[in-house]
Amino acid sequence: MTDATPLRPDLSSLPAYVAGRTVAGAVKLASNEVALPPHPSVQAAVADAVAAGNRYPDISVSALTRRLAEHHDVPPERIAVGCGSVALCQQLVSSVCSPGDEVVFAWRSFEAYPIVTLIGHATAVPVPLTPGHVHDLDAMADAITDRTRIVFVCNPNNPSGTAVRRAELEAFLTRVPDHVLVVLDEAYREFVSDSEVPDGLTLLDAHPHVVVLRTFSKAHRLAGLRVGYAIGPTDLASALKSVSVPFSVSTPAQAAAIAALDVLDDLLDDARGAVAELGRMATALRGMGYEVPDSQANFLWLPLRERAQAFTDHALDHKVVVRGFSPDGVRISAGAPDENDLLIDAASSFPG
Ligand SMILES: Cc1ncc(COP(=O)(O)O)c(C=O)c1O
Repeated sequence: MTDATPLRPDLSSLPAYVAGRTVAGAVKLASNEVALPPHPSVQAAVADAVAAGNRYPDISVSALTRRLAEHHDVPPERIAVGCGSVALCQQLVSSVCSPGDEVVFAWRSFEAYPIVTLIGHATAVPVPLTPGHVHDLDAMADAITDRTRIVFVCNPNNPSGTAVRRAELEAFLTRVPDHVLVVLDEAYREFVSDSEVPDGLTLLDAHPHVVVLRTFSKAHRLAGLRVGYAIGPTDLASALKSVSVPFSVSTPAQAAAIAALDVLDDLLDDARGAVAELGRMATALRGMGYEVPDSQANFLWLPLRERAQAFTDHALDHKVVVRGFSPDGVRISAGAPDENDLLIDAASSFPG
């Protein structure tokens, strides 16, 4: 074996996707998952689907697509299902951008955006969040050039948890020129409690250059099964399918997603429980003097800046894995009540 593989010269400059760590003996509040396992009926559907594991999956994900179309009251042709919404982020860049085109996103935001941009040979244009840790939509609109093809708006934003509201989002959308696709990434939509934060699907008719991303990884508790979907213009949905890895949504994943939609009310109840727990944690942390921006997701952001790594290490010493983004802050996902108590205890002994 030699080390002479003709790799892309820019490969080593790709930022790595850093997954939340799993540490034996510690609780994991690091990956924005819901602490509960998949719903029992979803587990049963997955077990049944495994019996067909010798066959390839339905390549066009037809039953799930039909089900999503009914659920959201949109034509099935507007939907593309992917192997998690992160795969769809990559497919979006592949299907929209040519080399040298620009992709605008807030920063910090979902760490996959710069990665999929660079994989797609496009140029990343990060735009800092406001001092209040919210998308700076005016600055993002100002950052659009003739080369811009995509703007990602993560709403609520990962990792800050903050969300933009309808009036400001609509004002932004009217400023975005037609040659730019706006991707509303709503991975955390089910946790939103502020009624002024719009459901992106309600914006599609008035704004044809918008696509909405959703996932089954968070409130639906299927992060390990890998299903996400995009709803947008028909031509975009078919482009997303044409650049996808064939058969990337497995049979158990398709079955799990359908079964999850069957018990959606239960799942949403549990999601509200996670939000209530998050509120309890936020109140406790604020009471200790921490700055905690209002979160519309299932995680909190502590903008600890240069103390982010120290907090991350301190939490781990107390058997809690959080996600540090040094030198900006620390993201803490809502866990089970006893897990959240551990975090509160750890935070109370962090030297101020
Ligand atoms: C904002 C955002 N979008 C998309 C994803 C990807 O989710 P998945 O690929 O599991 O559907 C995540 C995962 O953490 C996320 O935070």
